[in-house]
Amino acid sequence: MSEKNYIFKNARVIDPARGIDAITDVGVSDGKIADPGKVVKPEVVNLTGKVLAPGFIDLHVHLRQPGNNMAETIASGTAAAAAGGFTSIVAMPNTNPPADNAGAIEFLRQTAAHTGVVRVLPCGCMTKGYEGKEMAGIGSLKAAGVVALSDDGKCIQNHSLMRHVVEYAKSFNLPILDHCEENTLAAEGVVNEGKWSVLLGIAGISGASEELMVARNIILSRQIGWKIHMQHVSVKESVELLRNARKQGILVSGEATPHHLTLNDECIKTYDTNYKMNPPLRSEADRLALIEGIADGTITVIATDHAPHTQTSKLVEFDCAPFGIIGLETALSLCYTELVAKGVIDLPKLVKLFTTGPAEVLGFEDYSLADGNCADIVIFDPTKKYTVDADKFKSKSRNTPFNGQQVQGKVCATLVGGRMVYQEL
Ligand code: DOR
Ligand code: ZN
Repeated sequence: MSEKNYIFKNARVIDPARGIDAITDVGVSDGKIADPGKVVKPEVVNLTGKVLAPGFIDLHVHLRQPGNNMAETIASGTAAAAAGGFTSIVAMPNTNPPADNAGAIEFLRQTAAHTGVVRVLPCGCMTKGYEGKEMAGIGSLKAAGVVALSDDGKCIQNHSLMRHVVEYAKSFNLPILDHCEENTLAAEGVVNEGKWSVLLGIAGISGASEELMVARNIILSRQIGWKIHMQHVSVKESVELLRNARKQGILVSGEATPHHLTLNDECIKTYDTNYKMNPPLRSEADRLALIEGIADGTITVIATDHAPHTQTSKLVEFDCAPFGIIGLETALSLCYTELVAKGVIDLPKLVKLFTTGPAEVLGFEDYSLADGNCADIVIFDPTKKYTVDADKFKSKSRNTPFNGQQVQGKVCATLVGGRMVYQEL
């Protein structure tokens, strides 16, 4: 199918890889970025007041297919991604069955090709059966097309096994995305261990549970010389460990989620299970440390940890509810409102956290709007204020604590390979 050609005029073009932040025109021809002067039969779109940037990449998305199609499917999850400005998403392997073998990756790739609207980048399990006991067949996962390895939702407790996984990951050139959680310190906790867990009488997850595994990963990364990316960093001690490790040139990186950047553990006093996720919402001091880590470049990625759950599964006592909230369709707005509108970082820096930051973790070269590159593009209106309405979400799930919230910054259009997959222009 031949795609439409476009000339996008007068947008503020932010292209971090090339250091561009300027009002200019961008052409799209045959699915690729092109010189606007050379585009044949274009549709001309005036984008005065809008921002045009490389499509966002989300390193952390749960698509739930196979296993829980009631909560999300590859079709609905990628539609939600498109609405959020994401053109590539890394699909976590904790599906049912887990994506620990080439067949499961092939299923994901084929289903994404038939039903998905954005690029689905498969991530394979680090361990067989996602059980943390034995290494998965990393060579065959690589051959099947995974871009990274993760046991997200769980953390390998055996350090010797983790060491071997990191060695294999290095030889197959696959970054590791790790959910850092030491089980004996996390115990049976469901919220942050601190003032609010004590006041409400809910079992807490110690921040040390995360800190310990971040430290373990830094040691292994240094020893082996390979990339370990810390998923959903939530405590100030992890930020400090990352900061020091990166200063020493160790190949570690970290992501923060929009919810850990905007909420703290006081929210749980409502007992609303839409505030239950893992890692849990932490203290205000932790939240401010994450923001500082974003501002000083310690944390280079914003990732959503989009974790859809059905309404019935969340409509239970706090202790019994599953961990996780959806995030694809609110990520830009929440981060714009919290970080850019409040003057913590500028807009090009925010775009970096959604584009070149994650691209670097995946080892993508030249993730930019240079002529000839795939036309993966997001267009958004940074001035647009609106109220989050979960009933309008493309996701099949509604488990967000942000419903009804006033936010600023809205995605207007998303193009994948030059094809408009979301449009509200
Ligand atoms: O809150 C979470 N939900 N954290 C995780 O690590 C896993 C995820 C899920 O799969 O629901
Ligand atoms: Zn996780």
